[in-house]
Amino acid sequence: MRAAVCPGYGDPEVVAVQDLPAPVPEPGQVRVRVTAAAVNFPDVLVLANKYQISVPPPFVPGSEFAGVVDELGDGVDEFAPGDRVTGTGLYGAFAEQVVTKSASLSRIPDGIDDRDAVAFGVAYRTAYHALRSVARVREGDRVIVLGAGSGVGLAAVQLARCLGATVTAVASSQEKLDAAKSCGADQLINYRPATPDTTPAQTLRSALRTALPDGAAAVLDPVGGDLSEPALRALRRGGRFVTIGYASGTIPRIPLNLVLVKSIQILGFQFQDLDPTEFHRNEDELRALLTTGQARPHIGAVFPLDQAAQALRLVADGRAVGKVLLDLS
Ligand SMILES: NC(=O)c1ccc[n+]([C@@H]2O[C@H](COP(=O)([O-])OP(=O)(O)OC[C@H]3O[C@@H](n4cnc5c(N)ncnc54)[C@H](OP(=O)(O)O)[C@@H]3O)[C@@H](O)[C@H]2O)c1
Repeated sequence: MRAAVCPGYGDPEVVAVQDLPAPVPEPGQVRVRVTAAAVNFPDVLVLANKYQISVPPPFVPGSEFAGVVDELGDGVDEFAPGDRVTGTGLYGAFAEQVVTKSASLSRIPDGIDDRDAVAFGVAYRTAYHALRSVARVREGDRVIVLGAGSGVGLAAVQLARCLGATVTAVASSQEKLDAAKSCGADQLINYRPATPDTTPAQTLRSALRTALPDGAAAVLDPVGGDLSEPALRALRRGGRFVTIGYASGTIPRIPLNLVLVKSIQILGFQFQDLDPTEFHRNEDELRALLTTGQARPHIGAVFPLDQAAQALRLVADGRAVGKVLLDLS
């Protein structure tokens, strides 16, 4: 089978396609013929050995795939060859075939194509659980989404609207803001300064004061860096700031007096810390939003497997709009 391989840690350009032996499923495992894979920001971090877990090279990168079950290991009875599934793992997805534990697979609902299924995956699940169970967004709330043109950010824009919130989308370019508008954003803020003597943080702080004079109920932040503080300042009393990731490469430092004076709550998002009952409720609601067409992922770019390095580079540079996919069909 053909697979993108990382021969040693480095930039996206270290990745090259090779022929590898087809993997064989062990007991409890399933082999999937991959049709599409999503390129996620953590894939770039794993390649560079900057992720919280190290994967020793050589390895096949890629953490999210869709495809068709083609062989079962002993003891697997919940899937059959021909089933359409999505799956996640730390690595291995940028290949024509992947072997994984059956527990990490989910069936793709009828009527949803493989590309939409894989693009929906982690980005939409992150955004929805964060909005619903961490930010506790309710109808009528005003929500600020940083990185609103990103995979998680665009999902958050769309899903906050599904929850009845109004959304202020913050991003670095008109292209990203146009995508946020098409996903339902009510207000659009480009944080790039109009003049050289102004910083992005100052630009955002002033724009948020104008856009949200009464403050927002929640901030979703997958970016970090200099924009987190002005977004936190734009919260109303008792507002919730959810930190999801640091795509900017900088972990922000927030003066705690800002938290104290408005009784703000700063909360982290991790899947494993969600209440199990809420987790299953959210997953059911999210599936319904997908199957009824109320939520539909924005796929910004699709590359062939041969161009896995280019796809990873687009994501590494923060230039992706919505989801970037590899087509292996
Ligand atoms: N906690 C969790 O369980 C969880 C789950 C999924 C993802 N995450 C994290 O969430 C973050 C966003 O993921 P994503 O898939 O939405 O990423 P993405 O699609 O690659 O977007 C990241 C966004 O970050 C902004 N950015 C600013 N500086 C950047 C830089 N130097 N390099 C790259 N991007 C930069 C860009 O927005 P602007 O151009 O508008 O600034 C870009 O659109 C990642 O850090 C990821 O690890 C966490």
